[in-house]
Amino acid sequence: MAELANNEKIARNLRDGFPHPYTLADAENFLSKFTNQDPVTYFGIDFNEEYVGNISLVPCQDIYRMSAEIGYFIGEPFWNKGIVTTAVNLITEYGFQQLGIIRIQTGVFEYNTASQRVLEKCGFVKEGVFRKSVIKQGKLWDEVRYAKLKPELVK
Ligand SMILES: CC(C)(COP(=O)(O)OP(=O)(O)OC[C@H]1O[C@@H](n2cnc3c(N)ncnc32)[C@H](O)[C@@H]1OP(=O)(O)O)[C@@H](O)C(=O)NCCC(=O)NCCS
Repeated sequence: MAELANNEKIARNLRDGFPHPYTLADAENFLSKFTNQDPVTYFGIDFNEEYVGNISLVPCQDIYRMSAEIGYFIGEPFWNKGIVTTAVNLITEYGFQQLGIIRIQTGVFEYNTASQRVLEKCGFVKEGVFRKSVIKQGKLWDEVRYAKLKPELVK
């Protein structure tokens, strides 16, 4: 995990809570927090029996508790093979069927067109743009908001 996550091309697309550089201690700290969860909301992504990245579905709180936020990354050697598209479809199904949520949402930085494409391929709808809501690497950026509803709720 530390080897794949220690990549500026990954960190630039994620919140500042994702460390950069990403050390072995960061990976250990992450694993100690998220192993033995019940229900599981953080998953490793396996491709041909190899660990390639992470995907999460974190339930929101209070009046937003029927929603969850999705997040993901995979290592650069594995980009553009359709892996995250498959993982997003799987975790979306898991969220709707097992976690009892009805809405999955996330925000993508304006320049992250690959992630926007993944969400669109998975049936997420672009709901709006939070203008200049993100500060990343010292610059202001728009965040594009996407969400998918449980199919039974969509007429
Ligand atoms: C974004 C990311 C998750 C995509 O994962 P992936 O497994 O490579 O995605 P997929 O292969 O399933 O699909 C990628 C799609 O984006 C397209 N794409 C790739 N680079 C692109 C770019 N620069 N501009 C537009 N589209 C791009 C691909 O062509 C593909 O679309 P297609 O199937 O229509 O050809 C991966 O690159 C990653 O981990 N990036 C760093 C972390 C990150 O951005 N996380 C998400 C934060 S919101």
